[in-house]
Amino acid sequence: MFITLEGPEGSGKTSHIPHLVEYLREKGYVVFPTREPGGTSISEQIRDILHDLKNAEMHARTETLLYQAARSQIVEQVIKPRLAKGEIVISDRYYDSTIAYQGYGHQQNLEEVRALVKYATAGLTPDLTILLDLDVEVGLKRKKQNESEWNRMDDHEVNFYRRVRAGYLEMVKQEPKRWIVVNSEQKWDDVQEELKRVIVGKLKVEG
Ligand code: TMP
Repeated sequence: MFITLEGPEGSGKTSHIPHLVEYLREKGYVVFPTREPGGTSISEQIRDILHDLKNAEMHARTETLLYQAARSQIVEQVIKPRLAKGEIVISDRYYDSTIAYQGYGHQQNLEEVRALVKYATAGLTPDLTILLDLDVEVGLKRKKQNESEWNRMDDHEVNFYRRVRAGYLEMVKQEPKRWIVVNSEQKWDDVQEELKRVIVGKLKVEG
């Protein structure tokens, strides 16, 4: 089972994942958490280039390609082998982030971006993708409260993030079977409970 969490800035994905992992492990599942960009030595090095505020001149196509380079490495080195062993892999972002940020956000050609993503992942699609959705301004405010996490990808104008959110919601409409939307403006505990319910529900259906 391959589960991905997606969402705009400040949606809280990263804070929820360790608790979900612990909960599923207590239930006896073998679970492996990953994050993108990163999760392997090569991918973490690419993450540093992508996030470095010094690289302000980076072109959107360069950015798109670097995300795919980081991604193909983690897919081959970590995700596929773990799935092949029957483990649950939970990823903090995956290719839908590229479609949302580089496709909708930077307004790159969506068909071309989708083709690149398919190449980078060798077609590996998540079984379940959860969108932690929230108002753009609320999310940016939350993110700004944690200045230490501020990076080059956070330095866009607010309309960029509006396009990202609208892009995610469009993707949910296009593939309603794969996506579940969770309102992350709820209290943290309520979001966590809903995430557990959604994931356990999916695990039961898949047996
Ligand atoms: P995060 O650690 O807050 O999730 O930050 C990762 C940043 O990278 C976030 O701004 C979204 C961005 N990103 C993309 O633009 N495209 C991608 O494919 C991925 C994985 C992340």
